[in-house]
Amino acid sequence: MQLVDQFLRKINYLRVSVTDRCDLRCVYCMKEKMNFLPKSDVLSLEEIERLCDNFIDLGVEKIRLTGGEPLVRKNIIHLIKNLNKKKSLTNLKEITLTTNGTLLKKYAKELKDNGINRINVSLDTIVKEKFKEITRFGNLDNVFEGIDEALNNNIKVKINTVVFKNFNEYQMTNLINWANSKLLDLTFIEVMPMSDTDMPRHMQFVSLDKIYKELNGIYKFNQSDYQTGGPSNYYTSDKLNIKIGFITPMSNNFCATCNRVRISSTGKLYMCLGQNDFVDFREILRSDRGDDFIKEKIRFALSVKPKRHDFIINSETKPYINRHMNETGG
Ligand code: GTP
Ligand code: 5AD
Ligand code: SF4
Repeated sequence: MQLVDQFLRKINYLRVSVTDRCDLRCVYCMKEKMNFLPKSDVLSLEEIERLCDNFIDLGVEKIRLTGGEPLVRKNIIHLIKNLNKKKSLTNLKEITLTTNGTLLKKYAKELKDNGINRINVSLDTIVKEKFKEITRFGNLDNVFEGIDEALNNNIKVKINTVVFKNFNEYQMTNLINWANSKLLDLTFIEVMPMSDTDMPRHMQFVSLDKIYKELNGIYKFNQSDYQTGGPSNYYTSDKLNIKIGFITPMSNNFCATCNRVRISSTGKLYMCLGQNDFVDFREILRSDRGDDFIKEKIRFALSVKPKRHDFIINSETKPYINRHMNETGG
């Protein structure tokens, strides 16, 4: 079985936000004061699993758990354990997560024991005070310890770094040298104009075009054909033992090869990160509709998956996306 959208893109990657909550408040992701959803609005783990089952039946091979912060969701390991069992029974090949790393020290072993072999950790700086600044109150040591625990448990770690204007754009070599010393691939991400945070997006955004040119002057990149099924373009360098990735939704969008859809923690299926349209599955899951109906709705959603996002960042344009990243998890 294969899921194909109206533009004949094969959709085999499902991103699932398991909670909108997070133990950090990154300034490009959230406002300082956020209202989180009441628990009853959020899908139960059983509801999430049932949705995943239907996507797997339809051809999804890769599931990424996101948030908010996926590891703050109570009993998350239970869901991962159940999903992991499906790998030997279905076409599901990989379960992974995108995490801020703060709880990895506690969970790394259980994650590995339940089939998580690779994770992405969001980290924008390796300077303690700056980490506190960008996350509003986070403690970098927790993330360092979490990453080490993941590595000790043989989980491959990739670092995701959002490039934020006047914050980390001039310190990329520090981060690269640190990642290189730990043999962690590192991907840079452009700020996207999701719902308003406390600072206008044009004061946050840096084009990765500029960062690529600066870093290429130092590292003399070679394009790599390494692919993970995500949107990153990877480069190698004779001066490095790791790959450096660039995710460029703004300066060079990758929508033509989009292979993914995402479910919010409340059961909304967003066909595109950069559009507001969704198909709501929560009420379907909570009524006595069968799985055939769910599959029909998934096929419908794919038939209206947008061609691309229309993100714009400038001083005149307000973001048109009406949700923060923690609702759909990137
Ligand atoms: P890999 O499996 O390692 O390739 O991961 P990934 O890049 O698919 O997942 P990850 O969660 O690390 O994604 C990194 C960031 O890329 C996300 O947080 C988003 O900011 C961005 N991103 C991922 N998918 C999309 C997408 O479909 N559209 C846009 N505009 N951005 C995306
Ligand atoms: N633009 C780009 N990336 C963002 N993230 C959160 N908000 C934004 C945004 N507005 C990233 C986080 C993390 C992932 C979950 O999404 O840094 O890597
Ligand atoms: Fe939490 Fe990730 Fe958003 Fe930071 S970017 S506040 S770690 S969900």
